[in-house]
Amino acid sequence: KICYVHRRISKQTVLNCKNIFKKSKYKILNYLVKNDANKYKIKLIALKYIIYKKKREGKKVKIKINMRASWLKYSHNFNTRSLQTKIYEKKIDLRSDTVTLPTAAMRQAMLESKVGDDVYGEDPTVNSLQERMSHLFLGNKFTGKNALFVPTGTMGNLISCISHCSNTFDSEMILGDESHIHFYEQGGIASVGRIHSRVIQNNKTDGTLSIKDIEKCVRPMHLKNVHFPITKLICLENTQNRCGGAVLPLSYLQELRQWVNAYNDEYKSDIKIHLDGARIFNALVEYGNDYLTYPYKIMDYVDSISVCFSKGLGAPIGSMVISPCDEFMQRCLRLRKVLGGGMRQVGVIASCAHVSLDEVVPKLKQDHINALLLADKITKLQISGLQIEKMPQTNIVNFVTEEQKLQMTDEQVVLALKQANVLINCMSKNKFRMVLYHQISTKDVLDVVDRLQSIFSNKKKQT
Ligand SMILES: Cc1ncc(COP(=O)(O)O)c(C=O)c1O
Repeated sequence: KICYVHRRISKQTVLNCKNIFKKSKYKILNYLVKNDANKYKIKLIALKYIIYKKKREGKKVKIKINMRASWLKYSHNFNTRSLQTKIYEKKIDLRSDTVTLPTAAMRQAMLESKVGDDVYGEDPTVNSLQERMSHLFLGNKFTGKNALFVPTGTMGNLISCISHCSNTFDSEMILGDESHIHFYEQGGIASVGRIHSRVIQNNKTDGTLSIKDIEKCVRPMHLKNVHFPITKLICLENTQNRCGGAVLPLSYLQELRQWVNAYNDEYKSDIKIHLDGARIFNALVEYGNDYLTYPYKIMDYVDSISVCFSKGLGAPIGSMVISPCDEFMQRCLRLRKVLGGGMRQVGVIASCAHVSLDEVVPKLKQDHINALLLADKITKLQISGLQIEKMPQTNIVNFVTEEQKLQMTDEQVVLALKQANVLINCMSKNKFRMVLYHQISTKDVLDVVDRLQSIFSNKKKQT
């Protein structure tokens, strides 16, 4: 029940075969193997029927493909191990925590949500969510209109930055070279917000921006130098996505806050701090119960925050901008409208965010435990040319490769995993990201390790 097709059989014959099988009760599994040494492509067709049958019998599915001696001669140094493959039915998607699917409770909440026109401020579900987030993040600094529901994290960041810079022509903001705002938001702060960005390096280990670097490039009003834009804003990201989900140390946040306050006092300037808190709940979990119960403690260090429900919190859509400053919030409301973010009966989706807070936030710690397990198991595989960048603090696991040692390009790594039904993202050359979330179980993590082991079994480090 296994057919072999070697390079002497034309593509047309393969296609003909496929057509015949298509019409039969059998399904075909295509398996493409590239022999790196000789650049021969060998196509193997296995009948999926075998897999179905074995699965029905409750057997572990493992197809061992035997090479026929008659055509081994065509394959020269071909490594027969690379022809052994397991079929992995379950897709494990680790590209991002944005791929979460709404839970049953979310779907139910959508169905039952009370709605109204939110542009008129009449959607009861949105209003209760805004109030809930204000209480959570502001405690008794809450004045009534301190949180604004927006469709995306990108919009939340953009309107916060523009609002802090008051929409003037001469504003500058300081941000990290690995920040989402700098890297992935199309430069909207410049094109839409007319804000000049002063980019400094993120510390790759903890995601911080060095205060010394900030001090060196801040350009305040008092200099009265017409050449310079005026620094109005510093942006941080917590957790820092491209720095492997790093949690900004509280001592750092405190030090930066003190420095900014002292600077503002001394030079009569008004520099603000905005926090891209797309994954702030992951950080709060790591700060400990005190912060998770009283998230408003984080607002001691920043002037505004944008929080996403659509990442690890598992809701399909939605972010919240929060600040204790009423004028800032008023500007955000106007900006949301001009950017097309005024939504109508949006309680339908805000209802999911309520469920996220109740149901998913308590599960975040497990994602961090799973991430650590994944990183630890991968390290123990001892794959030559592939290593964990640093042990994860939260739900993001980055690994780096050395192409020469691994003998695989970035595309080949992603493809090999895809063939084993594991999806991952390549972040930049030789750097990959795997993200855990509540719909990835500990068993899934162990499965991923098993699949990695099969893929890289011939790449074990020599000890
Ligand atoms: C740190 C960070 N900020 C902001 C965003 C933007 O969120 P959205 O995709 O909802 O625009 C993302 C998205 O992944 C993110 O990781």
